[in-house]
Amino acid sequence: MIIASEQDVTTAVLAEAARTPDARFREILTAAVKHLHAFVREARLSEAEFQQLCGAIARAGQLTTASHNEVVLAAGSLGVSALVCLLNNGQGGKGDASETTANLMGPFWRLDAPRLADGASIVRAPMPGLPLFVTAWVVDVHGQPVAGADVDVWQASTEGFYENQDPSQPDMNLRGTFTTDAAGRVTMRSIKPAGYPVPVTGPVGDLLRAQGRHNLRPAHVHFMIRKPGFKTQYSQVYVDDDPNLDSDVQFGVTRALVGRFVQREAGAPPAADVRGPWVTLEHRFVIEPGQSRLPRPPITGKADGARPQMAVLSRRAAPEV
Ligand SMILES: [Fe+2]
Repeated sequence: MIIASEQDVTTAVLAEAARTPDARFREILTAAVKHLHAFVREARLSEAEFQQLCGAIARAGQLTTASHNEVVLAAGSLGVSALVCLLNNGQGGKGDASETTANLMGPFWRLDAPRLADGASIVRAPMPGLPLFVTAWVVDVHGQPVAGADVDVWQASTEGFYENQDPSQPDMNLRGTFTTDAAGRVTMRSIKPAGYPVPVTGPVGDLLRAQGRHNLRPAHVHFMIRKPGFKTQYSQVYVDDDPNLDSDVQFGVTRALVGRFVQREAGAPPAADVRGPWVTLEHRFVIEPGQSRLPRPPITGKADGARPQMAVLSRRAAPEV
């Protein structure tokens, strides 16, 4: 159609969207066009602001490499990843009755982590950190143990780097795949994770600085649980004494995922080489019926060169409005 007014633009684009043969894609596209156009009207987006927005989106794509995904980081920093997770798990995240143990996959899962025996350590080189001994149970929605489920685990070092970001760590350090036993249980050894800053060298950094937000994630361990007949579950278990639980830059922390990391000193240590305090974590994951799907890995390899310098932004008090 020939456009006679600003309203006509929306009408024309929606009319083209209506031609889409695939019903689901048509539904998504129609909603996206309606909300995008409404956003432009509500914000009264200027031409310069529109160009700035396009530039930020393009830059997020350009910065995405085999070892860093700026697009996923941006989605998390705007709460989109958390919203998608809670709408799609635990009956739509409608409150305590349907509380889910699912969480964001995040940008750091790698395919083909080494398969390890029950109780094995995911630490592949000597590194600082309190020894951590994890016991995790996987149950179905009726509380019955799920045996034979694959459990991928990954986490950052105490210096705040995943191995893919840090050329000084061995390949696949702090990553492993375990299998649940007849009781639906896996045990593993690691180090107590520390919180870490997300990269702020791209548009995500600009976004956080503009809002006066910090760029820290509270300390956590990632899990991904897979078994045929069950929906693949991504999860993260957060360290309960982390000061940033209520201001996670990725909006990931839910009550169900604040873990009980207990520091212990008394009694026999759980391994012969443990000389000082150690930490235990026990956590239960509830997986739902559905399709077991291996996700597309957000990253595929390790960074080379020097370890990146990670800036930490401080959080400003909210302005009076
Ligand atoms: Fe993480």
